[in-house]
Amino acid sequence: MSDISRATEDQLQSLFPGGRMTKNALPSDVNFVICEGKGSRVLGTDGRWRIDYVGGAGALILGHAHPAIVTAVQEQSAKGTHFFGLVNDKALDLAEEMIKAVPCAERVIFTTTGSESTYYAMRLARAHTGRDLILKFEGGYHGNHDYSNLSVAPKAASNYPGGQPDALGIPSGVQETVMVAPFNDIDAAARIIKEHKDQLAAVMLEPVQRVIFPRSGFLTGLKNLCDEANVLLIFDEVVTGFRLAYGGAQEAFGVTPDIACYGKVMGGGMALGAVAGREDILLNGNPGVTGDSKGIAISGTLHGNPLSAAAGLACLQTLRDLNPYDDLRAKGDALRSAFQEVLDQHGLGIRVIGSESWWQFFSGCHEPVDYADFLASDMLKTELLDLALSREGVFVMPNTRRFVSAAHTNEDLEESVLALDAACKAITRG
Ligand SMILES: Cc1ncc(COP(=O)(O)O)c(C=O)c1O
Repeated sequence: MSDISRATEDQLQSLFPGGRMTKNALPSDVNFVICEGKGSRVLGTDGRWRIDYVGGAGALILGHAHPAIVTAVQEQSAKGTHFFGLVNDKALDLAEEMIKAVPCAERVIFTTTGSESTYYAMRLARAHTGRDLILKFEGGYHGNHDYSNLSVAPKAASNYPGGQPDALGIPSGVQETVMVAPFNDIDAAARIIKEHKDQLAAVMLEPVQRVIFPRSGFLTGLKNLCDEANVLLIFDEVVTGFRLAYGGAQEAFGVTPDIACYGKVMGGGMALGAVAGREDILLNGNPGVTGDSKGIAISGTLHGNPLSAAAGLACLQTLRDLNPYDDLRAKGDALRSAFQEVLDQHGLGIRVIGSESWWQFFSGCHEPVDYADFLASDMLKTELLDLALSREGVFVMPNTRRFVSAAHTNEDLEESVLALDAACKAITRG
């Protein structure tokens, strides 16, 4: 049974390659066309409201259409939506707020997406160090440009530090500039950093890699290794920024990187990203200042646009006032433990993983510490559960980390637990 009509399916096929707008499409039997989002729920054109744990891939920490963000966007749209990446009052205020909140942020460069932020961060690191190589971690996602589409979801074990392209069309020359290590393995990272330090510009990672939290000492260990080797440490805080804590992973884990990348929450769900970091490194973003007339050539029509900046500012101000982080953790804990109880009752051999506002199903014999643990797990089983849960009215993307937001209510959580029970019954029925 599909939630999408035959006519809509035909329309999708006639408009988009393969009938999908991006690779993040739902499988066709649970696919639906979204026409509205309110608080913790999304409405499909099929008239069905679903409890949303996708949350704009983590961007919507306050839920959909939060009144403060709606008002800010309405007011700004009447005053002009963009002025070609030129300084504007909302971008100024947002940059100031970020510099106050983020430990590493001495300066800010605005972009339009998280992918652009990681792309420019790598370029800044290369310009600053005069070296080409970047070390990332297997399973870590940094957006969709050529340098980041390597070993995000390889189908086979890696031959570290060699990476595997996740997409077609990535030049082999680019692949040669990106090395890969297993997440949470400080000894493996140390070996690679020490061996390649003369060519290594930066180590880039998601401090919480997808749904995997760092082992105690892993981030500090990386920081020390980078400092010793004179290599830059880049935190991709596109998801963790303003979500894990107001000051992001750097505040939560007490480790300050040289550069950090932003998107998602900082734009209040609108198109906005940023690179923040040490002044001496970010100076290269400004042509002429370092005596090089080129700089790293940062430019974008919508960079720091006032519409997104107004949304981001409203989101950050609300987060600052609300301080929802204890509540997010409590909701996450409650959902994970209630879900685990249901799964155990049905004996499915699936665990609920994650921490704080993150959660996901995992079918492996221990808590995952790296991507290889996912590769070794039964991902088909968890996908089937995700699909069954979707059929019960809970919006999740299969085998992808998901989030509770400040908008989720106790009723949402209770309804989700009942939905999971129904999903498990459907699975065990066959
Ligand atoms: C950790 C991380 N970095 C970068 C990105 C890319 O951001 P965007 O989709 O805005 O380009 C994402 C997107 O999900 C992400 O999760």
